[in-house]
Amino acid sequence: MDDLRDKYLGQIAGAGDEADLETVRLAAVGKKGEIALKMRELGKMTPEERQQVGPALNALKDEITSAISARKAGMEDAALDARLRTEWLDVTLPTRARRRGTIHPVSQVTEEVTAIFADLGFSVAEGPQIETDWYNFDALNIPGHHPARAEMDTFYMARAADDDRPPHVLRTHTSPVQIRSLEKTGAPTRIICPGRVYRADYDQTHTPMFHQVEGMAIDRDISMANLKWVLEEFCRAFFEIDGIELRFRASHFPFTEPSAEVDIRCFWEGGTLKLGEGDDWMEILGSGMMHPKVLAAGGIDPDVWQGFAFGIGIDRLAMLKYGIPDLRAFFDSDLRWLRHYGFGALQAPTRHAG
Ligand code: PHE
Repeated sequence: MDDLRDKYLGQIAGAGDEADLETVRLAAVGKKGEIALKMRELGKMTPEERQQVGPALNALKDEITSAISARKAGMEDAALDARLRTEWLDVTLPTRARRRGTIHPVSQVTEEVTAIFADLGFSVAEGPQIETDWYNFDALNIPGHHPARAEMDTFYMARAADDDRPPHVLRTHTSPVQIRSLEKTGAPTRIICPGRVYRADYDQTHTPMFHQVEGMAIDRDISMANLKWVLEEFCRAFFEIDGIELRFRASHFPFTEPSAEVDIRCFWEGGTLKLGEGDDWMEILGSGMMHPKVLAAGGIDPDVWQGFAFGIGIDRLAMLKYGIPDLRAFFDSDLRWLRHYGFGALQAPTRHAG
């Protein structure tokens, strides 16, 4: 019995890993292990011998079993210690230099515009940037041959060679959302739609992608006077400058009749645009009374409903309000520019603060 104990306790102590330990366990206390074999021999013994040897074997079995569990626990602790040593982390090391992102002026201005129009009862609508020919042009009373299609320097999407449907376009303005929104909600309605638009154009005041906010208000008795009031109210709230001066200039758009473009009085001073005085005018939006054909394309009866629409250049608004000289820099992703012209994450849009 003592030999057995010495042998197995020795093997347990010498086991290199858990697999070794399992081998020892099977050999010693497994169903076919050495102690089980000895137990079987009990049958051949005299009752006196059995009374001695039986309990001793059971005690030995318990001793070996607990020695194995103790060794196993020791191995697991050692493994954990080893892992913790490799995963050690010095939490007292200095952190990385703090780098703060900024809110892009376009995002900031979009928020400001949305907040002002929300106060005026306009909700936000959306539409896709890849648009069908119909929504971008036909539904807005710009038929296939219309010169406005060429003037807008449209980006056309590719179609398969055997596909003769009109190609999709990158929307050239946010006006297609007028139609999409009317289809969804009908009249009366008051919406704005800020978003990206695309035209093949590039100079100090034009980039191939830029931002507009479309506006549309429809009811039974909406007039040009309402349009003028809303736009003036908006500009006063947005620019926060006494004496902001707007100029309504008769214009032409296929989707409005009559139409007006709106300019804002400004002048250049040392590379920066100043507002409210001077002899220059910067165009910031196109507008007008919605054409009956457009109302009909949106599924509402032009004999019952009428409305105004406008499209404002968001990037232009940002340049004017925050004195940013070159539009192209908006989209260069130059971190120095962003740190200079960007906004803090908690900087509230103008009207939310009030
Ligand atoms: N869609 C026009 C443009 O992009 C702007 C506009 C919108 C004009 C709504 C009138 C009414 O130039």
